Amino acid sequence: MKGNQTSYLVFAAALSFAVFACGSKKETTNTEDYGTPKEETTAPVTAADAITQGESLVKASDCKTCHHAVNKIIGPSHTDVAKKYEFTTANVELLAGKIIKGGSGVWGEIPMSAHTDISQADAEKMARYVLSLDGETEH
Ligand code: HEC
Repeated sequence: MKGNQTSYLVFAAALSFAVFACGSKKETTNTEDYGTPKEETTAPVTAADAITQGESLVKASDCKTCHHAVNKIIGPSHTDVAKKYEFTTANVELLAGKIIKGGSGVWGEIPMSAHTDISQADAEKMARYVLSLDGETEH
């Protein structure tokens, strides 16, 4: 009987150790999970991703003070901008430059403010989102 009890205790100890070990292993896996988005940002960005990210960037920036997707406010509606420019890589770069440096004289007298804190890569995503608004795809 005493022998049985001892082996039960050993078994219980082993079991609780296994549970503990399992628990701490889970934590390690979680920590590793937090590292994955870093890899994703360096992964290639698809055309659709760039447009979706551009939309979030525009919405998070001050653009909406002066621009609406379909209505003219202070600046032209972003859909009007899309209609004026063909969705080409050259125009993505042109408009990204305007977003960063500002611009004037294309749509009227009111100038667009510069956004020197926006990176070229982010400005190009914003430009891609704007240029996609008339349903065109990049060519
Ligand atoms: C202070 C108001 C204001 C803000 C803020 C603003 N814009 Fe503008 N935007 C304008 C005006 C005004 C024009 C028209 C300028 C012109 O006539 O050349 C313009 C023009 C543009 C154009 C067309 C440029 C061209 O040469 O045809 C794009 C694209 C654009 N804005 C995107 C953005 C984005 C993206 C943001 C946010 C990062 C933004 N704008 C923030 C006022 C603003």
